[in-house]
Amino acid sequence: MSGVDPAQAAKRPPPLPASQRKLAESIREDLWFGDEDPNRTAEEASRSLAAAAALAAGLKPFPVIAQRVMTLLADPDTPVAKVKKAIEQDPALTGRLLRVANSALYAPTIACRSVEDAVIRLGSRTVSEIVASLATLGLFSDAKSGFGASFRNHCVCVAAIGRVLGTEWRYKGVEHVFLSGLMHDIGKLLAMQVKEIRYEALDPAALQSPDQVHMHERAFAGYDHAVLGAHVLERWKFPDEICKVVALHHQPGRAFAASNIALGVALLRLADDIEFQIRRSRELDEAYVETLIQNGAAEYTQFSRDVLRAMWPKFVRAFDEALRVTA
Ligand SMILES: [Fe+2]
Ligand SMILES: [Fe+2]
Repeated sequence: MSGVDPAQAAKRPPPLPASQRKLAESIREDLWFGDEDPNRTAEEASRSLAAAAALAAGLKPFPVIAQRVMTLLADPDTPVAKVKKAIEQDPALTGRLLRVANSALYAPTIACRSVEDAVIRLGSRTVSEIVASLATLGLFSDAKSGFGASFRNHCVCVAAIGRVLGTEWRYKGVEHVFLSGLMHDIGKLLAMQVKEIRYEALDPAALQSPDQVHMHERAFAGYDHAVLGAHVLERWKFPDEICKVVALHHQPGRAFAASNIALGVALLRLADDIEFQIRRSRELDEAYVETLIQNGAAEYTQFSRDVLRAMWPKFVRAFDEALRVTA
């Protein structure tokens, strides 16, 4: 973005006291904006981000048990008994996991009566996704209406659509696509939580588009939800790939030049765009598919219009199923 409206800049929070300036040093260069952004080196913006990230991570620590379960499930050699023991340390999580595992969403032929059943019947990847979703939804369980609920539902639906795209692409890191989708806009929820950004003051049209809100955030706060979310995920010890994909999901040029995360960002950006479209219309819209195919993310993944058309019913189903989990 070039230039910041002086009236908006005046609304920024006051500079932090010198004692907190070291927070700005915790800003990771590779999770920040690209060089093309004139705000990149703005000390005030980076201090403001560091303060918001520290506050947000403190206000909403990611549940330790969920984090541990996800780490265990990421290793295919982890014995099921170890996973069971970790999950059962949290009886509420165990109960919710079994409820979701037995819901229409996964519809097991034989009911899962224990965590072991769930891991064996649904697989460790699915159980990990359920645990991550429940933990994330739990963090924002107070967001029952308004922007909070809408951002939360958007994240869960993008994760589900991302899984469809990742599976179709035969991407080995498909669970990372799910997780980065689930977390990609968490910065918006955190920014609301620390009362730094007032989304209700934004043009409603911007909120209906996947690629506009971050520009308003940068003008207003000096950073955006992508970099805020990435820094908080880093403090929550999420895998580095997820942090980077989340950080760069509104910087496609920079992301597509980074070979290790380019595909993850491309799949996430497609899922993000498709989720907004399904909210507008569940019917396959040929004009939309034409626009989508021009999108750099579609080009990067090389999904053809025919493949995207054929996948449409799966996208809509994934969207509906995800909304059921959030209900
Ligand atoms: Fe975003
Ligand atoms: Fe999004």
